[in-house]
Amino acid sequence: MPSRDEGLRAVWLQASYIYKVAGSARCQSCSLSVIISVYSVNSDILPTRMEGGQYIIEGEEEAQSTTLIFSMSEEVGALANALKIFQANNVNLLHIESRPSRREAKYEFMVECDTASGDVGAAMEQMRARCSYFQVISRNHLDNKDTVPWFPRKIADLDRFANQILSYGSELDADHPGFTDAVYRDRRKYFADIAYHYKHFQEIPRVEYTAEEKETWGVVFRNLTKLYKTHACKEHNMVFPLLIENCGYREDNIPQLQDVSNFLKDCTGFTLRPVAGLLSSRDFLAGLAFRVFHSTQYIRHSSKPLYTPEPDICHELLGHAPLLADPAFAQFSQEIGLASLGAPDEFIEKLATCYWFTVEYGICQQNGENKAFGAGLLSSFGELEYCLTDKPELLPFDPAKTSLQKYPITEYQPVYYVAQSFEDAKQKMIQFAATIPRPFSVRYNPYTQSVEILNSKPQIHSLVREINCDIQVLMDAIVKLN
Ligand SMILES: [Fe+2]
Repeated sequence: MPSRDEGLRAVWLQASYIYKVAGSARCQSCSLSVIISVYSVNSDILPTRMEGGQYIIEGEEEAQSTTLIFSMSEEVGALANALKIFQANNVNLLHIESRPSRREAKYEFMVECDTASGDVGAAMEQMRARCSYFQVISRNHLDNKDTVPWFPRKIADLDRFANQILSYGSELDADHPGFTDAVYRDRRKYFADIAYHYKHFQEIPRVEYTAEEKETWGVVFRNLTKLYKTHACKEHNMVFPLLIENCGYREDNIPQLQDVSNFLKDCTGFTLRPVAGLLSSRDFLAGLAFRVFHSTQYIRHSSKPLYTPEPDICHELLGHAPLLADPAFAQFSQEIGLASLGAPDEFIEKLATCYWFTVEYGICQQNGENKAFGAGLLSSFGELEYCLTDKPELLPFDPAKTSLQKYPITEYQPVYYVAQSFEDAKQKMIQFAATIPRPFSVRYNPYTQSVEILNSKPQIHSLVREINCDIQVLMDAIVKLN
């Protein structure tokens, strides 16, 4: 079997966490409506190799933390009373935030506790008894069945896990085409450093690609573009000329991530974010909830231009970027991301499998023909040809069944799933997401670029009012059209 692009190792591999906190502080006093942010990810801390392996230090978070979201039963001095409980139990707080609750007419507080300090369990029990609303969100959710796995609430929260990566820089497997090439390894470290120090709101640094790198890109570009007209879905073919026109997609030029990100932002609100290594499925999918796509910036080794053992910029820009500019596909991708937030581990695996058979290796029906829309196909010359032959088995996309499908990662897929349309796939994903056992629903608020947890009547009423406004606009537009 010929070698192939293995785009999604980043998604199915389970990461180890290296979240590091610059320092912690004990809060002595507070007042309502104040935001105290005393944590930060220390950008000076560099990843450390795990002994004897290629992965950076893993396992438990170095500064273990648990986030509590709560409203106190009493109103006056609520936060001060809550903080006394933490103080009495010697629990350090890393972050405190208060805001008007959307669940009830009072304040809601979010505190991040340093679980390595004091008696967090006792503090939580005392808090729970005095709260009208109490939710625990933790990275270490496996230790506590009542805990919802941690997930980012604001787009800037992606800074907090973007560096929890499996592999870093020049650490390549022994069978990697660039393993013995010191220049290539240095180059990989250069790209990894860019991503490792990247923070939300920053421009993605522009890279001067070498002549050798451009040559590699050229080979991939030339071969793949021969097949797109006949093998790629119509959405890919529609966007591709726009990328040539607006983002410098050319055989002799590797586009800049920031230019592509700007283009996507205008089309669907999606943005690219550089990533230093492999993220966990949970973290990678969480990015999609915010319409953020984690993208590599390096290119494969020049010795094998039509093969890469991991996602590279050819895979991201030729495979993923065109589809992320399509509104229906963007919505579908975001639905998978939203479904993943706070989901139990077994459902993360199911969602990652659905992602694999759609965003990476999806085929769709268009005008009675099968066309490729998965990035793993659209960035792999060999598999793009193969997937539309009669060799693989084709099955209808059905998340409940697709999510259980096993798949190889080192050879062409024996089975592909066919979506009727992106819209149909999205509806099926939404229905599947409803089966995920979570004590709340989530909704992305594009105005604040944050995820709202929906688990109370006032929030639902507020959402109904917002939808009602949209329906009024829709009715007005229909009347004017007629
Ligand atoms: Fe990918």
